[in-house]
Formats: sequence, structure tokens, C-alpha cells
Amino acid sequence: MSDHGKAKLQIDGKDLELPVTVGSEGEVGVDISRLRPETGAITLDPSLANTGACESAITYIDGEKGILRYRGYDISDLAMHASFPEVCHLLIYGRLPTRPEREGFRTRLTRHSLVHEDMKKFFEGFPPSAHPMVILSAMIASLSAFYPEEDTEEEIDLNIIRLLAKAKTLAAFSYKKSIGQPFIYPRNDRTYLENFLLMMFAVPAEPYDVDQTVRSALNKLLILHADHEQNCSTTTVRTVGSGGASLFASISAGVSALWGPLHGGANQAVIEMLEQIRQDGSDFQKYVDLTKSKDSDFKLMGFGHRVYKNFDPRARILKEAADEVLDKLGVDDPLLEIAKQLEEVALADSYFVERKLYPNVDFYSGVLYRAMGIPTDMFTVMFALGRLPGWIAHWLEQRNAPGARIIRPRQIYTGETARPWEPLDER
Ligand code: ACO
Repeated sequence: MSDHGKAKLQIDGKDLELPVTVGSEGEVGVDISRLRPETGAITLDPSLANTGACESAITYIDGEKGILRYRGYDISDLAMHASFPEVCHLLIYGRLPTRPEREGFRTRLTRHSLVHEDMKKFFEGFPPSAHPMVILSAMIASLSAFYPEEDTEEEIDLNIIRLLAKAKTLAAFSYKKSIGQPFIYPRNDRTYLENFLLMMFAVPAEPYDVDQTVRSALNKLLILHADHEQNCSTTTVRTVGSGGASLFASISAGVSALWGPLHGGANQAVIEMLEQIRQDGSDFQKYVDLTKSKDSDFKLMGFGHRVYKNFDPRARILKEAADEVLDKLGVDDPLLEIAKQLEEVALADSYFVERKLYPNVDFYSGVLYRAMGIPTDMFTVMFALGRLPGWIAHWLEQRNAPGARIIRPRQIYTGETARPWEPLDER
């Protein structure tokens, strides 16, 4: 890289000067947009581990130092002081709300909580065994059928509010459907989180008091999941949105992308793994050794991260919260102790040290969800509810980016070269 902020590339004897973009935290990106037009070559970066696909002003991560900030605010400050709706406002509109803005935003989020009555019929079509993630993804896509495509800024904003408000209703209805209980409707005198807990856990004709320890743990969990820059699901949302798809269609694609066990589905996989270890006599070393065995593709779920190479600040916050919340709720979950001991054994092991593998956000979140009474197959749905404001902020940013074009990567073709058609009898 030259001292006047340009990178030099030599390819087939041809010199190319490439502009360099420097982010507000000093991150450097070499702009290769002239590479193909001028040389015919492209960059090859499978899994996109070294590719910046956009400029973004939403979330900053320094994986080496374990820093995570939304719009400049440190994740630990937000987790300690903010409410989830405030963080939604911050991510989507770029700033924390003033007091009147906060009240107005909360009111809108409450008043749009009901889903169209006809949508309730959709739930009847799913078998009771349907995973709540498939229901959530299908229902969010279905919102497009009930609420028109966005054209004006006001229509876009209204659909954003509708999505934030209704997703929690759809999530809670999917749970009620899975346990065969009647749906509980949201109430306008309850806050965002209270309404979600009410719809999940209340039963008809019985009073339901929200447990404040549960409410505050849920608030923290949703904030910690609210955004994480260009991960698999967010990149999916931006990609689908770049083709002009509606907010609901794009976010539904994000929900599907989140579902995989290497991404948001890891929280469910962690609990299943901890349970397996418990039933197998809590032999931690056996499972740590299994990850290293050439004959096994076993991984410690909830460990490792593409970006964090020191520690995941969200995991640290959740580990502390797990102790506090389980204690306050009087829950004695053997899986928390197993998680802690497994972490200790793994972090002392050279395989994990050399590869810089640390617990990620999913390692302790499941223990917290369990303590709150949320069933295992709802964990990834909880992640999706938390990630909604991040996806929405990225969908908007992509849509409004100056000169935004459809996202369309290239490839290096490695298949057959041209060959003649072979008639059926000659094959
Ligand atoms: N257990 C054991 N070994 C692991 C683990 C793990 N959890 N994660 C990575 N490794 C090993 C890999 O086998 C690889 O070893 P090698 O160099 O000998 O081949 C090395 O560490 C580097 O790992 P990669 O797979 O190249 O890392 P990548 O950045 O592609 O993947 C990922 C990151 C998907 C998170 C991975 O660490 C993983 O699968 N973790 C378990 C699933 C999980 O917890 N996912 C949630 C991530 S957070 C989120 O999405 C919300």
C-alpha cells in the first residue's frame, strides 16, 4: 500500500492502483471495483472471510479486542441501561430516542401487536411437530400478503413498526400452537416485553403477573442479539433486499438463514450437547478430545466465531447474567455447571488456545432461556426476535445506500469446458 492511500496490484505484468477506503475506526478496505473492468480478473474469497461487501454505519466489532458497539454505544452499557425498544430505535433510526420519542415508539409497537385474524388460520395448517422457526419464517413472509408493499417513507416506517410489533405475536402464537393451547392476545396496557411473556405463558381466565427477573433477563438477551454486522443472516437480508424484495420477504429470508446450527441454531444445539454430556456422565475431556479426533466431525457448539478471536463480549455478559438470574429465580440447572466446567476444560486445551476458540453468544443464552421457561426449540426464535432491529436497519441501509446495486457476486467456473451435444443412444 502506498503512502498516498492507494494499494498497488500487479497482475500479468499490468500495474493497477486501487483506492483505499478507511472506516471511522481505522479499518482499511482495498476497493477492487475497477479490478475486473481493467484486468478481467476477480478476487476469490470463499466464505467471504476477507471481503467487505458494503460500508455500514450500524455496528462496529473489533474481534481481536472483543469490542461490540451499536451506533457507537458499547454493548455492555446498552445491556445494563437500555430497554430493547430503545435499542430498536437506536439501530433503525441511528440515535437513542428522546423521552417523548421513546413513549411514541413504545405506543406504536404496542398498538400494532395484533395480527390479522385471517392469519390465525395459517397456524392450523402446520402439524403440531412443526419447528417454530419454519412457522416464524412463513408467517413473516405472509405479512406481505396482508400489508402492502412499501413505496413511500411513511409506508416503509409503518411496515417496520408492524414487523417489530407482530413478530413477537407470531412467535408466541407458534409456541401456543405447538403445545395445543389457545392463543393469548396482546394488550395495549402492557409493554413490548410484557406482552410477549403474556402471550407465551398466560392461560385464559387466569391472571398473569410478569416476573420482573424474567422480563429483565429477556431485555438483556434481546439487546445482546440485536445486531452483529455482516453475519450470515444479515448478509442474506441485505442480498434479498438488494433485489428490491419487500421488508417482510427479506426478513423472512433472514430468519431461514439464522436457523442453521452454525449460526443462530447453535443455541438449541448447545443445550442438546450439554444434555448429551450430562447423560453420558459429564466426561468433559471426552468431548473436548472428540472435537480433535480426525474421525469425528463433532464440534463444541457455542464455541468459536468468525470474527471474535479473543472473547465474545456478549458471552461474558450472559455468563454473569446466568448466575444471577438462576439464583434469583431459584433455578438449579445442572447444565449451567456443565457449561462452566466444559468451558474451563476447553479453554485450557491447546487445540482451542491455538485456534482462538472461545464461548460465543450461544453458549450461555440457552441456559438462561431454560430458566425463563422457554422451551429449547423456541431458542432460535428468541434470537430472531432480538435480531429483528439489526436486520431492519441493514435492509434500510442497503436500500438507501448511494448508488446501491443488486448484490451479485462472481465465481471462478471449474466445470466442464464446452462439449458437443450427445444424442441419447450415444451416451
Ligand atoms: N469446536 C471445535 N473446533 C472448532 C470449533 C468448535 N466449535 N469451531 C471452529 N473449530 C476449528 C475448526 O475445525 C478449524 O480447525 P482447523 O483449522 O484444524 O481446520 C478452526 O477451528 C477454524 O474454524 P473455522 O470453521 O474455519 O471457523 P469459521 O470462522 O469458518 O466458523 C463458526 C465459525 C461457524 C462459528 C465455527 O466456530 C463453529 O462451527 N462453531 C460452532 C457453532 C456455533 O457455535 N455457532 C454460533 C456462532 S455465533 C452466531 O452465529 C450467532
